[in-house]
Amino acid sequence: MITRSELRPTPPPTGVAELEVKSEPESIKAARDFVADWFNDGAFDDDLVYVARTVVTELATNAHRHGSAEGDPITTRVFHTDAGPVIEVLDASAELPVPKPLTLDGLTGRGLALVDLMVPLWGYARLPGGGKVVWALLHARA
Ligand SMILES: Nc1ncnc2c1ncn2[C@@H]1O[C@H](COP(=O)(O)OP(=O)(O)OP(=O)(O)O)[C@@H](O)[C@H]1O
Ligand SMILES: [Mg+2]
Repeated sequence: MITRSELRPTPPPTGVAELEVKSEPESIKAARDFVADWFNDGAFDDDLVYVARTVVTELATNAHRHGSAEGDPITTRVFHTDAGPVIEVLDASAELPVPKPLTLDGLTGRGLALVDLMVPLWGYARLPGGGKVVWALLHARA
């Protein structure tokens, strides 16, 4: 539950699964299904697939709502590292996420707080070519 900015896990030279979609509400389901398929194919346990689905839903929703204009590209990537599987969501905006503390009465500002509770490490980094990546490392129990 440590957030790191301007860090990014090193992807393997091969074996990165990637889905690029246009920023629109339907893209969030596409990203979720893509990640769920990858985790299911990897024979991870059901709890981790649930975490993966929740995390990508929050990150892709943020990319759509806060990090792009309608039709901009959003890219979802998943890959293995020695520390566990990583989910990345890339969007075109240089604006960085601003995680907020969980409150009992807030109606928004919960997505990243939820992610923070569910994964051991997540972060974000601006990309050299523009835009940014928000990533999460998931604990592998399989
Ligand atoms: N991909 C992004 N691009 C730009 N800003 C972002 C991005 N993701 C998050 N943010 C900023 O970080 C804030 C916190 O994000 P978080 O997901 O916790 O809350 P929210 O999206 O505002 O509400 P909720 O997720 O509860 O519907 C957002 O309000 C937004 O300002
Ligand atoms: Mg959100």
